[in-house]
Amino acid sequence: MYASKVAQFALAGLAAAQSQLDAIPAGFNASRWAWVSNENPLLAAIPGEFNRSGFQAPSAATVSDSRVAAINEHINQTNFVAYDSRFFEIIGPDATVEQLQVLPFQIHEAPCYIPETSQLYFVEWGGPGGGENGGHDYQYVLDLKTNTLTKVRTNPPTWNVHGCVYSKGKLHVVTDGGPHETGYLATIDPSTWERKTILNNNNEQPFISFNDLDMDPEGNYYLTDSLSGWGRNLHPYGAPTPPTVYFVNGTTLRIKALMYLPDGNTNGIAVSPDGRSLYVADTGASQVKPSRRNEQGPRDLWAFDFATSRATGQKLPLLTNRRLLTRAIEYFYDGVRASRSGWIFGAGGEVVDVVDPESGWIMGSIRVGGGGNEPVNLVFGENELWIVGKGGCVARQKHS
Ligand SMILES: *[C@@H]1O[C@H](CO)[C@@H](O)[C@H](O)[C@H]1NC(C)=O
Ligand SMILES: *[C@@H]1O[C@H](CO)[C@@H](O)[C@H](O)[C@H]1NC(C)=O
Ligand SMILES: *[C@@H]1O[C@H](CO)[C@@H](O)[C@H](O)[C@H]1NC(C)=O
Ligand SMILES: *[C@@H]1O[C@H](CO)[C@@H](O)[C@H](O)[C@H]1NC(C)=O
Repeated sequence: MYASKVAQFALAGLAAAQSQLDAIPAGFNASRWAWVSNENPLLAAIPGEFNRSGFQAPSAATVSDSRVAAINEHINQTNFVAYDSRFFEIIGPDATVEQLQVLPFQIHEAPCYIPETSQLYFVEWGGPGGGENGGHDYQYVLDLKTNTLTKVRTNPPTWNVHGCVYSKGKLHVVTDGGPHETGYLATIDPSTWERKTILNNNNEQPFISFNDLDMDPEGNYYLTDSLSGWGRNLHPYGAPTPPTVYFVNGTTLRIKALMYLPDGNTNGIAVSPDGRSLYVADTGASQVKPSRRNEQGPRDLWAFDFATSRATGQKLPLLTNRRLLTRAIEYFYDGVRASRSGWIFGAGGEVVDVVDPESGWIMGSIRVGGGGNEPVNLVFGENELWIVGKGGCVARQKHS
């Protein structure tokens, strides 16, 4: 009785909301999609009262107008929210979102897709059982053919992995550091789970705590050294520098700082597929020691280009042309990845957003359910996107 009433109410709400949003193109499923634009006068100038914090999804705003409330309710049930007509082409009409695993309400991070074995490597981050001071010396491996989840320990064990990139048969990982060590860059062989530390110091100085990394087509590393792991007391070595992005030459392992954020925090990072641009998330709105969300803090995605040598035209480990690409509509981008065709995917809040690398316009959002299912990081598969996050989601967004 109660259930059927709820269903009728939801259906009525859905029909009303759809008639007030832009019509989605033919072939796209109206239950999974919404097209949100300010060409809709109801959204451009919201009647009555409205409010939300930058850490909430737009559909979670408090609104007094029942038509806007119905739109929000509809959006909250969709998987894809388009802000730009190009988003329909990027995602395609056949895409679906599937939740594969339900895990404890913890941050899951560092996803790596291993094509040879069809496995997804990822970690639980930030202390056992939701604690503040713990650490992890194990990682997860999800068999994507059978959806079987197992724990692995590398040899020697790797503490507090926070970022991962798969390249040429190896997992390239960065760590926050642990009880007896500072953060480092390492490779893990996924066929033996042997781990080899590649770089653990900056000219004999410890790092703060690595958050993420990316690699360019030449095999050079871009590492974000962040306040986050230090903020959770994952190691006892302090924070010797401001949050910094480092360049590490993949051949010589020579290291240099590329940029730093004295008033923010480094987090996700991605290199464009041509290796010429760098995208860095500033997530300083999430403060540490004490842990606090600051509405005045940065939730921004920055873009840079690499300088080139005047003499040889070669790429230099120097950034130019700093520009604010976009501010996240909700929350901040934690994990950031660039797709084969150059679109930037940023995970944070209830969404994975797709951002145009040139204009910075947000094309649209991929949603994995809301209600505490929150994407934190992502990795591309063949034709899938694998998302890990809070609320234990390991979601797959599939398109043909
Ligand atoms: C549209 O999406 C809904 C929700 O995921 C699903 O139940 C329904 O079967 C889909 N319709 C079609 C025609 O695929
Ligand atoms: C609006 O939201 C902000 C952030 O959540 C809150 O601090 C403020 O009190 C709210 N104001 C009103 C009028 O609702
Ligand atoms: C990395 O080092 C190698 C060997 O010295 C050099 O050839 C290459 O140009 C360097 N790459 C960058 C981007 O500096
Ligand atoms: C959105 O949907 C989720 C899942 O059904 C629910 O838990 C959450 O409360 C909803 N959010 C809002 C703002 O209605």
